[in-house]
Amino acid sequence: MSERKKVTLPYLFDKVAGGDPITMLTCYDYPTAYFQEQAGVEMILVGDSLGMTMLGYDSTLPVTMEDMIRHAQAVRRGSPNAWLIGDMPYMSYQPSVEKAISNAGRFMAEAGCDAIKLEGGVEMAERVAGIVKSGIPAMGHLGLTPQSASALGGFHVQGRSALQAKKIIDDAKALEEAGVFAILLEMVPDRVCQLITARAKTCFIISLGSGPHAHGQLLIYHDMFGLYPKFKPKMAKVFGNAGEVILNGLKQYVQEVGGKTFPAPENYFTMKDEEYAELSALLEKGGQP
Ligand code: KIV
Repeated sequence: MSERKKVTLPYLFDKVAGGDPITMLTCYDYPTAYFQEQAGVEMILVGDSLGMTMLGYDSTLPVTMEDMIRHAQAVRRGSPNAWLIGDMPYMSYQPSVEKAISNAGRFMAEAGCDAIKLEGGVEMAERVAGIVKSGIPAMGHLGLTPQSASALGGFHVQGRSALQAKKIIDDAKALEEAGVFAILLEMVPDRVCQLITARAKTCFIISLGSGPHAHGQLLIYHDMFGLYPKFKPKMAKVFGNAGEVILNGLKQYVQEVGGKTFPAPENYFTMKDEEYAELSALLEKGGQP
């Protein structure tokens, strides 16, 4: 059983003040959440990336609130103490402030989340302000925002030109003014991330592929362990190739069943001779005592 203390916002802001980087990972299921809890990961994002990593879609767009709630509930069961963030899926917040507030509330009430995350800058500031005024901590997400990949022209680094970078800096300011506690910068040049981090006064900055100058780091769990077969983004470090270990184990299983070396006696259950003799007699008599 975990003996960790519950991670809280004051704890996270204390780390920021002390210059200690915050750790954050994505997570979508109970056993992984259990391991992340044991490892001491501070912030867990139940990302809508689960549409790709867990459900096999080509994008995050088909993910529903129901998908998100079900996975967030499982993660909360595995990690009672991490600061748990539910990622608002496509069209769960874009249509109106009211819709944004009620779906954000579902993450809190139904899945035990501590906060929500949504994508977008100044155009989402009203949604953020409404959610925050409802008492729900909100995290922003700028740079590469996968729900807008079509409008952004694909999955590319954002903010490489001065004009684009200025827009991201302005978006960060608008989100901060709307009340976010943190902003995720995904695939933004390191110096742009450094500028935004230095300017942040009432929120902290988390980097995903945006360099070391942020207040904390996020990785996609499946990228860290070779568990997403379609590609590995440049920004992901592979900390252990679990995908390879699993594939080798599966091949061995197929081989051993085919070769009749599995199951071995330690892998199944037996019956005492006298019980078996009695059963044989019963069957001979017609099956009933
Ligand atoms: O859905 C997700 O996991 C995300 C990350 C890409 C940051 O939003």
